[in-house]
Amino acid sequence: MKFNIAIIPGDGIGPEVTAQAKKALKAIAEVYDHTFVYKEGLMGACAIDETGNPLPDETLNLCKKSDAILFGAIGDPKYDNDPTAKIRPEQGLLRLRKELGLFCNVRPVKAYDQLIERSPLKKDRIKDTDITIFRELTGGIYFGTKELSEDGQTAFDGCSYTVEEIERIAHLAFKSAQSRQKKLTLVDKANVLETSRLWRKTVTALSSQYPDVALDFLFVDNAAMQLILNPKQFDVILTENLFGDIISDEASVIGGSIGLLASASVGNENALFEPIHGSYPQAKGKNTANPLASILSAAMLLQHLGLHTEAAIIEKAVQKSLELGITTEDINSDQPFSTNKVGDFIEDYIFNQEDNNINFQNLHMGRSTII
Ligand code: IPM
Ligand code: MG
Repeated sequence: MKFNIAIIPGDGIGPEVTAQAKKALKAIAEVYDHTFVYKEGLMGACAIDETGNPLPDETLNLCKKSDAILFGAIGDPKYDNDPTAKIRPEQGLLRLRKELGLFCNVRPVKAYDQLIERSPLKKDRIKDTDITIFRELTGGIYFGTKELSEDGQTAFDGCSYTVEEIERIAHLAFKSAQSRQKKLTLVDKANVLETSRLWRKTVTALSSQYPDVALDFLFVDNAAMQLILNPKQFDVILTENLFGDIISDEASVIGGSIGLLASASVGNENALFEPIHGSYPQAKGKNTANPLASILSAAMLLQHLGLHTEAAIIEKAVQKSLELGITTEDINSDQPFSTNKVGDFIEDYIFNQEDNNINFQNLHMGRSTII
């Protein structure tokens, strides 16, 4: 099959990790006889540097015309430390989400057996954790009215939600729960916020359409604690934009590294796939960043295109890299592999799936098997 894939490497480690995901996609195309047409666009700090605009029209149009978008990361410390900056890299991503209507952000969180020892959390508590977080992505406080009083003494960020905005993502979260453990937890702050009360009311009303799904509710402060105390209690979590941003970073600790968390941002017309880690500027250009989240985002992209076998192969390749310890320094401090080498391994695995040679690691990492 033929698909147009927009690639937006972005800032920091974005280009390095996205290059590995692209390598995996190229291998998939070759093995499974697909044609993926890649076109690259600028977004973020690199786009500001080159065009003055964090989301140039060219990039927006490219994304609109694509079947799927693979995105790296956004952000640069030179903007983070300047609260007066009027133009910021993140505005590019936020505008892209809004313009494309990518209202549903899906963030899967799994405790990988191979990494369980590395998690700072107790392993019996996190073993077998498998959560999917549905984060609303184009509403709430992120997109509300923002004001700063003339004297600079008062700032305002408005938060609003409509029933329609809540319903469209809630349907997707309920459907996901139906295909999983049939449990949906709405995370909100309904004891304080009016918007949260609307979420509760709307989601409760919808639940009659999904009688096989058990719905429960947690206040976000409690949810933050429960995620660490007993993450296995969760199946699908549904929440608004800001709470989802915060708890998904928190949940990444369960997986052993934020370098493993992929995400999909889906709308009615377009879909974007990105690792949830940021631009990690300290590692930029060092060839040390973990590419697995980007590679797993490519797997989610394939899922979205209906290429399920292909997506599963990438997931298997990632499992194998964890098993063999062909991983970067964040999860393999003893014998770390470079970003590129991990990407090479995934690519090789896709080309050599039948190869269960015991020397797999040596053969495919270009090491001698003769000692
Ligand atoms: C994320 C990021 C973004 C967000 C930033 C880069 C604007 O943290 O995708 O989680 O807050 O949504
Ligand atoms: Mg975030």
